[in-house]
Amino acid sequence: MQRRAALALALLAAPLATLAAEPVKVGFLVKQAEEPWFQDEWRFAEQAARDKGFTLVKIGIPNGEKMMAAIDNLAAQKAVGFVICAPDVKLGVAVNRAAKRHGLKVMSVDDQLVDGAGKPIADIPHMGISGYEIGKQVGQGLLAEMKARGWKPDEVGVLRVAFDQLPTARDRTMGAVDALKAAGVPAANVVDAPQAKTDTESAFNAANIAFTKNAKFKRWVAFGLNDEAALGAVRAAEGRGIKHDAMLAIGIGGSQTAMNEFTKPTPTAFYGTVLISPKRHGYETAVAVYEWATAGKQPPAVTLTSGTLMTRQNQAELRKQMGL
Ligand code: GLA
Repeated sequence: MQRRAALALALLAAPLATLAAEPVKVGFLVKQAEEPWFQDEWRFAEQAARDKGFTLVKIGIPNGEKMMAAIDNLAAQKAVGFVICAPDVKLGVAVNRAAKRHGLKVMSVDDQLVDGAGKPIADIPHMGISGYEIGKQVGQGLLAEMKARGWKPDEVGVLRVAFDQLPTARDRTMGAVDALKAAGVPAANVVDAPQAKTDTESAFNAANIAFTKNAKFKRWVAFGLNDEAALGAVRAAEGRGIKHDAMLAIGIGGSQTAMNEFTKPTPTAFYGTVLISPKRHGYETAVAVYEWATAGKQPPAVTLTSGTLMTRQNQAELRKQMGL
């Protein structure tokens, strides 16, 4: 009798146990998993998962095919939704359709998804940086240091490492250009260096070509959509003998790529970066999708985050302030 009761109890408990062992899953898909920024986002999303008690499923999606496979994979795992930074923002319609088909909540991070006409997809909530404003901070940081060095606005070449197919990348770099122009840098001094991808190597290649074609400038300022873009320009300049006394670059990001430069014993031309928050982007988006799926709490349509200029001098203090 006792044994039968125990068995009955065990049988009753079994489905409950399976339920308890299967926590809610939220996906976090990023276009460039090897980039320190995305590593940091993942790290803070993991922290969110621990705090809230869900499981984070991280998948790198370097192209459209891998992206679609990752969404199907999440559905097969019974995830409730996902955060995404897509390899191409024009995949927006495909992402939206796949998410709807599987009943998954979706939110974009960093790169806002667009439709066929290039318009942001309104029903996919987004968190990104305020690109144009942060770009202006890049330009203002360059101007302040140019002034400190006694460089005249009309003698500097301005290297814009460009990735114009991505709207936030264009906003960021045009913000910097506009700030420089407003301070008297001639539009004719702006040299565009279009990169094929958003990594250091592509920026390096693009910058090399631009330097070759514009050897008349003896002093340069450079920037791009992220730290990797600015760093590619710095390395290309070094290869041509343009060192930190003749070149200034400011990136956007502030993760390991920038820290590696700041901790070198001798300063390089990588003068600074606008520190943005992988903590907010990773943590808050993961929580938003989780709470949307489990508690019906709709995330705000668009959240734009700000940044702060960081150099060798203030990096330790700033990163601490930001909880990094
Ligand atoms: C884009 C860039 C990344 C990073 C993020 C920040 O996705 O490709 O390097 O700058 O924006 O939002």
